[in-house]
Amino acid sequence: MGTFWMPEGASTMSGEVDSLFYLVYWISVVIFIGVVAAMAYFAIKYRRTRESYVPPIVHENRFLEAAMIFIPLILTMVVFTFGFKTYLKMNIAPPTAYTIEAVASQWKWDFTYPNGKQVTGELHVPEGKPVKVHSTSMDVLHSFFIPQFRVKQDVVPNRYSSVWFQATKVDSFDVFCTEYCGTSHSGMLAKVIVHKPEDFEAWLNAGDDRPLDVQGESLFKANSCNTCHSIDGSRIVGPTFKGLFGSSRTFADGTTRTADEDYLRQSIMQPGSEIVESYPNVMPASYGTTLRPDDVTKIIEYIKTLK
Ligand code: CUA
Repeated sequence: MGTFWMPEGASTMSGEVDSLFYLVYWISVVIFIGVVAAMAYFAIKYRRTRESYVPPIVHENRFLEAAMIFIPLILTMVVFTFGFKTYLKMNIAPPTAYTIEAVASQWKWDFTYPNGKQVTGELHVPEGKPVKVHSTSMDVLHSFFIPQFRVKQDVVPNRYSSVWFQATKVDSFDVFCTEYCGTSHSGMLAKVIVHKPEDFEAWLNAGDDRPLDVQGESLFKANSCNTCHSIDGSRIVGPTFKGLFGSSRTFADGTTRTADEDYLRQSIMQPGSEIVESYPNVMPASYGTTLRPDDVTKIIEYIKTLK
C-alpha cells in the first residue's frame, strides 16, 4: 500500500528503499521529539526566576560528550551500511538484464528495443524480469524517474547512464523527468507499461495497424506537443492546432501563408524558420532529428482532423 510519503511500490527494489527511508524517518522522529522535549524541559527548569540570579559554572561531562560522538556515529554507520548495500544493488544491473535504449530530448522520451522497434513516451517491459534502461540525452540534462519502482537516474548529453529495475506488477506507472529542462519540463511524461512476459513478446513483435491520424494523436501526446499546443482553440505557449490546417497564417515579419502539409512539416522540422505573429520562438529544433519522417506524416494527419 502507498503511504503519505511514498506511492505503492511495484519493483523488487521498492521494499528495500522504503525500509531505508522509514529507518531514517523514524530515527529522525525520535531525535526530533527528544531534542524538542529536552529543550522545553530545560527552558522551564533553568528559566531566570530572579533578577539577581547568576547560574553556576558547568564543567564538562566526559560521559555525555562521548555519547554525543558515538551515538550519532553508530546511527550514521548503520544507515550508511544499509544504504551502501542498496546503492550497489541499484547501480549494478544483473548481467541478464533486458536492455532498452532511451533517448531524452526536450521534451520527450524515445525508447528503442533490441529488435529495432521504436516507441515514444511509452516504455513497455516484461513483468518479473530485470530490465536495464540505457540512456542518453540529445540536448540538456534530464532525469528518468519511476516513483513506484523507486528508481531515478540523471540523463546527460554526450554520455550514457543506466538504471535497472524488475517490475512486480502488471499495470502502468508514471515516468517523470525530474531535472528542470526548460519550458515543458513538467510535461515531459511517459508511461511504463508492464506486461506479462508472453504479452510483452506479442507486443514487441506486433506492428501498429491503427489509422494514421490515430497513431498521430498518440505521437502528439507522447512527444508532449500537447503541453504547448492546445486542440480546443485555447492559447497556451504555442498556437492551437484547432482549425490550423488550411488556415491563413500571419508571421512576425508580416508575411502570410496557407497552413498546408508543407507548412506543417516545415514548422515541425525547422520551427524557427517562420514564427507566427505574437508567439515566442521557443519550440526546440530537436524534433527535426528525433521524429522519423513517417511520424511527422502521422502528426500532420492528426492535425488535419482538428477542425
Ligand atoms: Cu526533461 Cu525535465
